[in-house]
Amino acid sequence: MNTIIPPTIDIHLSGSDLRGAMEQDVRSGLTAAPKRLPPVYFYDDRGSRLFDEITRLPEYYPTRSERSILDAHAKDIARRSDADTLVELGAGTCDKSRVLLDAMLSTGRLERFVPLDVSDTTLWEAATALSEEYPGLAVSAVVGDFHRHLDLLPTGGRRLFAFLGGTIGNLDPGQRRTFLIELGGVMAADDCLLLGTDLVKDRSRLVRAYDDRAGVTAEFNRNVLHVLNRELGANFDPERFGHVARWNEEDQRIEMWLRSAGDQHIRVADLDLELHFGSGEEMLTEISTKFSPDALAAELGECGFEVEWMWPSDGDEFLMTLARPVA
Ligand code: SAH
Ligand code: AVI
Repeated sequence: MNTIIPPTIDIHLSGSDLRGAMEQDVRSGLTAAPKRLPPVYFYDDRGSRLFDEITRLPEYYPTRSERSILDAHAKDIARRSDADTLVELGAGTCDKSRVLLDAMLSTGRLERFVPLDVSDTTLWEAATALSEEYPGLAVSAVVGDFHRHLDLLPTGGRRLFAFLGGTIGNLDPGQRRTFLIELGGVMAADDCLLLGTDLVKDRSRLVRAYDDRAGVTAEFNRNVLHVLNRELGANFDPERFGHVARWNEEDQRIEMWLRSAGDQHIRVADLDLELHFGSGEEMLTEISTKFSPDALAAELGECGFEVEWMWPSDGDEFLMTLARPVA
């Protein structure tokens, strides 16, 4: 591998597609009780930068824990998968991808990297940097939604699908089931799934990870209001919404909410939608489900995957699972 191959980009989510989906999601979410918004709209350029800042916060352990597992076991993962193509869903800045790419390079099989994300600028910057860092690697970036575009991913070769960071925990049980079944449907028999999941742990440690002292997560949470103001002509005053991070014991998940500081009337001009927020009313903006290894293995089994191996981090904070679709 020595020639730099310029990256390619497939756009399955144009600005107008994203806007159409946003219009539908925002109308249905803001007219529901309680009001809710899907987390995908956090990630404009500013939201992606804020998330990147979150990954370096002292309270936010998941990125460090997952990375420590990859540092220790990426070669084993690469050897077991025997893949020549890394497909990464919700790849973001592709920071941790490098650990997997290095390990695949060391097996002598690495040929292609396919990062998929909704955040086009972040994805393109990462794809460009990676193609320069890994001469000979074909980087085929895909701007798309992992809920809708899995069947448009490039095929061929032996693929390792990575879904890192615990992002699967941002899906509710029904969305996870649909996602996993669809993913299994596009995987070939010898493809593998590498799934990063955060584990259930001490509740105060969990809440602190989503309510940091510097207020970066609060700003990330409120960023969705900036996005709605810009994209849909809404008139939210983000400073009049407080950040709430709470552990939901029954559903084993952290929930992020935005709480209205006072009675507010909001207009979403492009949707011709008038909304009322009562004082203290909360809007659900994200769930982040935490797993136990047994429950995860059972869930994967119900969705047509067989677990090959699990690697917990030191202190059982985070878990990487290698699974294969059952024929
Ligand atoms: N994998 C990285 C980034 C996690 S942040 C890590 O482990 O650190 C979640 C990423 O998923 C963001 O880059 C966001 O833009 C992307 N994302 C969120 N919802 C998505 C969706 N529905 N389809 C595709 N990408 C999505
Ligand atoms: C991307 N995802 C796995 C993060 C999480 O931990 O659920 C998003 C995040 N939300 C607040 N902090 C980080």
